[in-house]
Amino acid sequence: MPEVTADVDRAVAVLRGGGLVGLPTETVYGLAADAERAPAVRRVFAAKGRPPSHPLIVHLAGAAVLDDGWAAHVPDTARTLAAVLWPGPLTLLVRRGPRVLDEVTGGRPTVALRVPDHPLALGVLDDLDGGLVAPSANRFGRVSPTTAADVVAELGDAVDLVLDGGPCRVGVESTIVDLTGPEPVVLRPGGVAAARLAELLGTPVRRWSGEGEAVAPGMLPSHYAPSARVELLDPAAPDAADRSVAHLAAGRRVGVLAPSEVAGLPDGVIALAPLGDAEAAARALYARLREADALGLDVLVVVPPEPEGIGEAVLDRLRRAAAGR
Ligand code: TXA
Ligand code: MG
Repeated sequence: MPEVTADVDRAVAVLRGGGLVGLPTETVYGLAADAERAPAVRRVFAAKGRPPSHPLIVHLAGAAVLDDGWAAHVPDTARTLAAVLWPGPLTLLVRRGPRVLDEVTGGRPTVALRVPDHPLALGVLDDLDGGLVAPSANRFGRVSPTTAADVVAELGDAVDLVLDGGPCRVGVESTIVDLTGPEPVVLRPGGVAAARLAELLGTPVRRWSGEGEAVAPGMLPSHYAPSARVELLDPAAPDAADRSVAHLAAGRRVGVLAPSEVAGLPDGVIALAPLGDAEAAARALYARLREADALGLDVLVVVPPEPEGIGEAVLDRLRRAAAGR
């Protein structure tokens, strides 16, 4: 099993040696490698079982290094957003600079950049004096990890060291915004609401329609999926009790997950702890999906949260979890 520690120096030494580190960020734990070492980057894909065509985010120490060769052109929109929201759960898609390896982008002309808001991640990046690729530290298509223990459970010896920075504060991945076109487009909803981006840029910010898969490989319909089947209820008629009865009758082990307590659940149904408001839901979502598997559920019936603020990202993840494999 990998070494689990809070020692930043140990993590930097492993990364300099071409190793892989489980890295705490404010969103989820990443599987980090030095972005400028091609063999280490290739190991990240192998450890996750991720196709090489799905590009990686490059994590940087601060907005000041935007001009250090990672981007070919830094648009004003990127500077505006970075100045206010970095470090933080926002990833900017820009034209790639000369320091970005083909392995990182799958040969694409763009690169995704972000500055994580976690003291241990920033400590590593400061010492490393470079960039880190860090996809979420889960096997391809599975639930993202939000604790050091989750990373060990997901990847075992495929990771060399796990830096333990406690449970993630935000709990869902960063918002990805494409700034390479005539107008900003959110490719993945996440820790920063699209409305906040629009407010800072003074322009409307569109949500990617899902067309042209080439724009954003990795935004697969099925992702973030536990082994249990996820059944996402209609928000207009979230009939959790009726659905549970039907599953029980079919002999299934069934759990219910909802923003608040659901009344009238039949005996035999396992009610998971309520998700709470949007922010609490984001923080708890992946832990609950892991719990569904730990409990050996066949099906998890989910009452959808309101898509307000970060709730938009929570609902996005639940939809993908429900799309099955
Ligand atoms: O919060 C986060 O962003 C976490 C933490 C660890 O920083 N990282 C994360 O990485 O979610 P990952 O690899 O699980 O998701 C990155 C997404 C993928 O869907 C990938 O396809 C997309 O970003 N992406 C990366 N580079 C891209 C590019 N050049 N063009 C289009 N999409 C890109
Ligand atoms: Mg991921």
